[in-house]
Amino acid sequence: MTVRHFLTLQDLSPAELKKLIDRAIELKAMQKRGQKHDIMCGKTLGMIFEKSSTRTRVSFEVGMTQFGGASIFLSPRDTQLGRGEPIEDSARVLSRMVDAVMIRTFAHSTIETFAQHSSVPVINALTDDFHPCQLLADIQTFVEHRGSIQGKKVVWVGDGNNMCNSYINAARQFDFELVVSCPEGFEPNQALLARESDRVSIERDPLKAANNAHLLVTDVWASMGQEEEQAVREKAFANYQVNSELMALAAKDALFMHCLPAHRGEEVSAEVMDDPQSVVWDEAENRLHAQKALLEFLMVGY
Ligand code: CP
Ligand code: NVA
Repeated sequence: MTVRHFLTLQDLSPAELKKLIDRAIELKAMQKRGQKHDIMCGKTLGMIFEKSSTRTRVSFEVGMTQFGGASIFLSPRDTQLGRGEPIEDSARVLSRMVDAVMIRTFAHSTIETFAQHSSVPVINALTDDFHPCQLLADIQTFVEHRGSIQGKKVVWVGDGNNMCNSYINAARQFDFELVVSCPEGFEPNQALLARESDRVSIERDPLKAANNAHLLVTDVWASMGQEEEQAVREKAFANYQVNSELMALAAKDALFMHCLPAHRGEEVSAEVMDDPQSVVWDEAENRLHAQKALLEFLMVGY
């Protein structure tokens, strides 16, 4: 059997993704009623973090614990990865010991190289280009609150970053319309945009973009690794805040999402963050349930 990886949403078919979201909802219900599901006894997840994390680390670790398995946190600070051991060699060695590897890193090519040399499933836990695990949680959250996202209008406001690129992939895989509202010079990946031009468009004016949206999503203006651009970006994105004025233009029952961590007063107003239309806390919790479904799919199969 060939090893399956999850480097982008395109690694799973639309049917597999739909099943995975349904399974995440089911696993969440099982966990809430205290039903044991220890399918990972004796299995270990290696977790390589080259960037900071709260949600991703905790959700993967807790997920493995709830499955009766184990996880190992590996940072470049105290492994040979940080001392220049080739990524290919690290992949060969680690995958002879652990049962799956989760990686958060900078260049997307790093995780592709790792996957090419890994004999166990590799999961993208965020690169500079994509954050597919977050999309699993976001779609689960939408489905729980509003039913299927198919045919809905989703509006991305702000930076055309890793999250935005994954939203473009999600528009294809989950069949929804995506409008990206970003300032000039901060567009998402051009090749992705071109590939999905039948369902993804750019609207520079966020007030026009938000019209009748079923979901408004944003993210920080300066991602990890872009800290030095903060001041320039604050200027460029000044008109791209999701606030009550913007939410008022969306559909009446529109939801607000943000992968977190959020900067109130920058990409989102404090009012919107704490409004009942905001489902950011469910979104964060669902990282746990959606990734459990992913781990089960990749490591055990169903
Ligand atoms: N949303 C997200 O990935 O959060 P962390 O950076 O805390 O993992
Ligand atoms: N775009 C953000 C997402 C953080 C979860 C970043 O890459 O820092």
